[in-house]
Amino acid sequence: MKKICIVGTGYVGLVTAAGLADFGNSVIAVDINESKIEILENGGIPIYEPGLIEVVERNVKAGRLSFTTDIDTAIRKSNVVFSAVGTPPGEGGEADLRAVWAVATSFAKNLDSYKVFINKSTVPVGTGQKTQELIKEKSGGKDCFDVVSNPEFLREGTAVSDFLNPDRVVIGSKSEKAQAIMKNVYHALIVRGVPYIGTNIKSAELIKYASNAFLAVKITFINEMANLCDIVGGDVNEVAKAMGLDGRISPKFLHAGPGFGGSCFPKDTMALVEIFKENGLHSRVVEAAIEANELQKQHVVTKLKSVLPDLKGKTIAILGLAFKPNTDDTRFSPTKVVIPLLEAEGAHVQVFDPIASDDFRQDFPDLDYKEDVYKAIEGADALILMTEWNEFRSLDLERVKSLLKSPIFIDTRNIYDPRDMKEKGFTFVCSGRTKCYL
Ligand code: UGA
Repeated sequence: MKKICIVGTGYVGLVTAAGLADFGNSVIAVDINESKIEILENGGIPIYEPGLIEVVERNVKAGRLSFTTDIDTAIRKSNVVFSAVGTPPGEGGEADLRAVWAVATSFAKNLDSYKVFINKSTVPVGTGQKTQELIKEKSGGKDCFDVVSNPEFLREGTAVSDFLNPDRVVIGSKSEKAQAIMKNVYHALIVRGVPYIGTNIKSAELIKYASNAFLAVKITFINEMANLCDIVGGDVNEVAKAMGLDGRISPKFLHAGPGFGGSCFPKDTMALVEIFKENGLHSRVVEAAIEANELQKQHVVTKLKSVLPDLKGKTIAILGLAFKPNTDDTRFSPTKVVIPLLEAEGAHVQVFDPIASDDFRQDFPDLDYKEDVYKAIEGADALILMTEWNEFRSLDLERVKSLLKSPIFIDTRNIYDPRDMKEKGFTFVCSGRTKCYL
């Protein structure tokens, strides 16, 4: 059994802590944020993530998972230390690594026996090497440690099952000792046949950026196809389905929508563009995806204006503030672009989200937040469905129609069928399926 310390209790850190404890390891989760640790110690969790509280509770009860703000003691008690702290975009789009350096410095100060330092956060290529140098310097030249890159591929909203059933485990380190320790940490997955990719640190760092950027490009591509479908009269769902049947393409991440958001794709695509530049290259593909994604968010307003040209004095209902369902996270949510554009045209916006309103309030404190979906729709001249929450999939459409001033329904996520919506008397616009059925 490994003694593991995980610094950072955000989506990645807390899920990793709970998951590794579930594999039988002894885990201490650390955060400098006292209120987060207090919530955890009192049996709660500071984020909304389906299924997480059960895994946390189970492992706390079994004595395998504990929480603290005391990073020094936690590191001294452990032989494996994960850094899962935030790496938000800096001013120029590059990843801000200050939190990672702070963890590495604490690691160096508490290096009283051989330990492995693992970077779980998404960090630019070369960070592992810099971490190695920093730890050596801050520990007064000690070399009883190894640095490992172990990128995480979990998605918010399905983080627990993604962590417990990953497609692969990637471990970057040239040290055989560290590779053996990491195989032990992930033993429960490896015995089940989950592919283990043992590689060098730089490849591991690149695998994470390459995977996220590729998926972001894939989404952007299908969004552009959807826009084309809307002009020429194709059905993007049929196009995506047939494309996906080609094993080389796969059907996943081909759902057209209002553009990708979240804390990962926007940040990681920007950071990858910077990494290319720093190395004298250009990723024209990733740069184009970022630009096209910004336009895709704005395109939601163009869609609305195609059926409601003058927004001045109009009331628009927004359903969904989170960047995707099953999360309270609104970072880089497309809605954050759409709402200011609507307001700039003179529209009044009333919004509803089942979970994410509090997070959204931090950036938009003065919006007209409604306590349920029908209150948000009541009296609106049009509604825009932005997030595919389950509760928006089975709306009482007769009620929706009677509450709206005019039956304009913009479904950016293709939840509803254009043929049904036409039959029910809606003026309906979706993503890449509008023209072929109306
Ligand atoms: C993403 C990756 O999917 C994870 O593998 C990775 O571990 C994570 O980033 C990270 O780097 O930590 P996440 O941002 O939680 O996960 O969410 P996704 O499910 O990937 O969705 C990202 C965005 O793409 C959302 O706005 C979603 O609505 C959009 N999307 C996704 C589409 O518009 N169409 C799709 O087909 C799929």
